[in-house]
Amino acid sequence: MTTDTQPRAQWLGRWGFVLAATGSAVGLGNIWKFPYITGEYGGGAFVLVYLACILAVGIPVMMTEIAFGRRGRGSPVDALRRVVKESGSGSAWSLLGWLAMLCGFMILCFYAVVAGWSFSYLWKMLTGAFAGATGDDMVGIFVANNENPLNLGFWSTLVVVATMLIVGKGVQAGIERCVTWMMPGMVVMLAILIAYGAFSGGFGEAWRFLFSFNAGSLSSEGMLAALGHAFFTLSLASGAILTYGSYLPARASIARTTLSVAAADTVVALMAGLAIFPIIFANGMSPGEGPGLIFMSLPLAFQAMPLGTLFGILFFMMLSMAALTSSISMVEATVSWLSDSKGVSRRTAAWGTGIVLWLISTLAMLSFNVGADWTLVGRTVFDWLDYLTARWMMPLGGLGVALLAGFVLKNEPMREELGVPPGWYALWLFAVRYLAPLGILVIFADALGIARIEFGLHWPWLLGALVLITLVGELASPRLRRALMG
Ligand code: TRP
Repeated sequence: MTTDTQPRAQWLGRWGFVLAATGSAVGLGNIWKFPYITGEYGGGAFVLVYLACILAVGIPVMMTEIAFGRRGRGSPVDALRRVVKESGSGSAWSLLGWLAMLCGFMILCFYAVVAGWSFSYLWKMLTGAFAGATGDDMVGIFVANNENPLNLGFWSTLVVVATMLIVGKGVQAGIERCVTWMMPGMVVMLAILIAYGAFSGGFGEAWRFLFSFNAGSLSSEGMLAALGHAFFTLSLASGAILTYGSYLPARASIARTTLSVAAADTVVALMAGLAIFPIIFANGMSPGEGPGLIFMSLPLAFQAMPLGTLFGILFFMMLSMAALTSSISMVEATVSWLSDSKGVSRRTAAWGTGIVLWLISTLAMLSFNVGADWTLVGRTVFDWLDYLTARWMMPLGGLGVALLAGFVLKNEPMREELGVPPGWYALWLFAVRYLAPLGILVIFADALGIARIEFGLHWPWLLGALVLITLVGELASPRLRRALMG
């Protein structure tokens, strides 16, 4: 039963949406993952491809999700049902809403564990647990932190409880109030850390590492990682942005807000690189350390530096806040669905969701200790959640969103919501019809082992395919639309 007559919550302040969506976008993905995959895939060239993916795929898809949310004024499930109904398209498309909502929820089930690492490292920094530790000790500390389920479980439980407390308070009093002070706080902390890094002696090297384009280091694996990460870092295809968009006032410009969010997200990722790499280089460490970069190399480096503990505290405080403002966005879809259309109070919805979340995240947490060998085809619970969401649900959801907006829905509602000049509208349409689907299909082909595209070698073919598909698609599109509408 829907309660369409109830006035729906909206962001209170002018910056409400931008802050909340930036809070969702800026997370462990920016500060933990972006620097380490940049390190692994060789620096500047990877950064350039990543920027291209954000521009060509991330921004158009984000605009679409916000437009869906605002048009449908509801959780992904309700919003998509309404949007699809309005244009008289096949109702199967509204399954995309379920996919997105489930995806966000599943991401949080393992994200809470990684966020728990961050909180526990903040605590370790505060209590001086790293004093005098060597490189081997750092590995030992990381392993010991994971080994004890009560310890690790305490931290992931803390993340779940904090998330549900904030979400349970509601859109304005919970989410908006929290991001209004956390986001500026984070930026200030990041700026202080960059200034610190600038004096550490490794800044020039870090700058060159991040921004000098060396085509030789461009691997096709790196390019696929860049596209996948563009989705993850913008919180796309998982209900977060769509639900936040449903609280966006009608007068706000979707294009402009999307640009602000994507730019802020990118700037923070680059700033995180500029904060972390100087410290890594100044201590003679390697940038390609993988996931341990900020949990092993960085604490070690901090420890060797003047006032390192203080800045280490600042770093993990910032990371924990970034993780929390992302966590709340991942369950907002589910909580808003329960409270809008199932007639449950928001508080009950939040705690109900929280209990299920806690149970599954605990299973994911156990993957690092007692449940390490509870595997199915070689993957632990944690790995499965990561694999299913990152490799399947997000690309599928993104593909669905792009095709739905590009071919299936009537043009007018989308044009109206987006409210951009005709030239920009055509660019957006080109991106959701051809660029994004083609990019996502390439990821799929790679993930399924159907075809491995060597971008360096195959780019003329890819370009040709894009032109050809666009021409055929445009010639056939009325027929294509009829076919897709079923
Ligand atoms: N964007 C966040 C990050 O970079 C992660 C995130 C938050 C997310 N909400 C999401 C990812 C929803 C997918 C879906 O850390």
